[in-house]
Amino acid sequence: MRISVIGCGYLGAVHAACMAELGHDVVGLDVDETKVALLAQGRPSFHEPGFPELLARHVGTRRLRFTTDPTEIRDAEIHFIGVGTPQLQGRLGADMTYVRQAVATIVEHAAPPAEGRPVLVAGKSTVPVGTAEEIAEALASSGKNLMLAWNPEFLREGYAVADTLHPDRLVYGLPEDLERGAVAKEILDECYARPLATGTPLVVANYPTAELVKVAANSFLATKISFINAMAELCDATGGDVTRLAEAIGYDDRIGSKFLQAGIGFGGGCLPKDIRAFMARAGELGVDEALTFLREVDAINLRRRDHAVTLAEEAVGGRLAGRKVAVLGITFKPDTDDLRDSPALDIAGRLWSRGAELAVVDPAAGDLLRRRQPELNVHDSIEDAIRDAHVVMVLTQWKEFVELDPAALVALPATPNVVDGRNVLDPRRWSNAGWRYFGMGRGVSVW
Ligand code: UDX
Repeated sequence: MRISVIGCGYLGAVHAACMAELGHDVVGLDVDETKVALLAQGRPSFHEPGFPELLARHVGTRRLRFTTDPTEIRDAEIHFIGVGTPQLQGRLGADMTYVRQAVATIVEHAAPPAEGRPVLVAGKSTVPVGTAEEIAEALASSGKNLMLAWNPEFLREGYAVADTLHPDRLVYGLPEDLERGAVAKEILDECYARPLATGTPLVVANYPTAELVKVAANSFLATKISFINAMAELCDATGGDVTRLAEAIGYDDRIGSKFLQAGIGFGGGCLPKDIRAFMARAGELGVDEALTFLREVDAINLRRRDHAVTLAEEAVGGRLAGRKVAVLGITFKPDTDDLRDSPALDIAGRLWSRGAELAVVDPAAGDLLRRRQPELNVHDSIEDAIRDAHVVMVLTQWKEFVELDPAALVALPATPNVVDGRNVLDPRRWSNAGWRYFGMGRGVSVW
C-alpha cells in the first residue's frame, strides 16, 4: 500500500520505518528540516534499538522516504497522524496544534479518487477523547473522499520497533456507519495483514473507545507504579522490603509482576503528560471526580523525587552544598536517550540547586546533556564520576550500572554511600563490600 505518516518524531518515524518493513511504500512528512534531512540520509534522529537497521534497509529504496514537501503525500491510500500532543505550557491539557495542522495538511494535499474506496486517515497520536469526532467532521466537510479511523499506538521507548511490528493488540476506532466502518476496517486489515496473520488480537470499537483505550492503558500503568511506590513509603515507615512485597503480590495472576518496580517513579514523554491531559479532559466533560485518583497517582510519583533528594542528604549527613554526588543514569529509563520529564534529570537539577557538585554518567544522553546542561558535569567513565564522591546515586537502571562490582569500586569515593533509585542493586552485596546502601522502600534485611 502507499502510506504517508505525518509527523516524524519518535512515534511517526518508527511507525513509518515499520510500515516499510511490512512491505508498504511509505513517505514520512515533517516540518522540521533538520530531522527530515537526517532521516532522509538513513540516520536516526534519536536512539532506539533496531531503528537504524530499518532505516538502513529501506531508505534509499523507493520504499521509505522522508520529506518536508506536503505535496508528496498526495497519492497515499492511508495517512497516519503521528504528531506530538505535548502538555500545554503551565496547564494540564494537551496541545492539539500539531494534530490540527496535520489534518489541515492532509485535507489540502491528499488526492483521493472522487469515487470508490475512500482514502483513510488513521489517527495514532494520543489525544483528548472527542478529538476523533471533530476530525471526522472536518474530513467530511472537506468534500474529499476521506474517512477517519482511530488506531492508537502502544509502543514503549526502547522496544518501539518490536512493539510496532509485533503489537500486543491492534485497536481500530471506526465510524458508526456500518458500511463505512467496514471499509475503514478493510483498509486497516490490509495495512496490518502481517501482524494480523500471526494472531495479533484485534479490538474494534467506536472512536471514543479507541481514544480512551490509549489513555486508560497509560493511566493504569502509572497507577500501578504509584501504587507500588506508595507501598515503598509504607515499607520505609515499617522496615519492610518493597521488592519482596512486589514479588509476592505479583505471583497473583490477577495482579501480575510487571510494572511493580518501586523507585524514583515514572517519567518520559507519555505517562506524566497523558494522565494530566486525561484529568483535564475529564474536567471538561464534567466527570472530573472519576479521575481524582490520578491526582494522587501524580502526587505520589513526584514525591519519589523529593525522597531521593532526602536520601542523598541523609547519606552525606545533612547539607549537600560542596558535596560531590555521582549520578549514574539521566534518561527517564534505560535504552533511550530521551530526557523528557526524566525523574533522574529532575533529581540531578535539585541536587545542583542545593549546591552539590555533580558528576553525571549516561550511556546514551551524555553528549546531549553536555551541550544542554554543562553544569551537571558529564563524565564518560563511571570510575571518574565516582572518584571522591560523597554519594553515588543509580537513577536509571542501565545494564552497565546494574552490573557494577561494588567491591571493585569501594575505594574510589570519599565516602562509600550508594542510593539505589531503581532498587536494582543487591543490598547485601553492596553492604558486604563496604558500602552504605540506601534503597527506595527497602531496608537491608537478612532475608
Ligand atoms: C509508556 C507505555 O508503556 C507505552 O505503552 C505507551 O505507548 C507510552 O508510554 P514509555 O514511556 O516508553 O511507554 O515507558 P515505560 O517503559 O512505560 O516506562 C515509563 C516510566 O515508568 C519510566 O520512567 C520507567 O522507569 C517507569 N517505571 C516503569 C517504573 O518506575 N516502575 C516500573 O515498574 C515500570
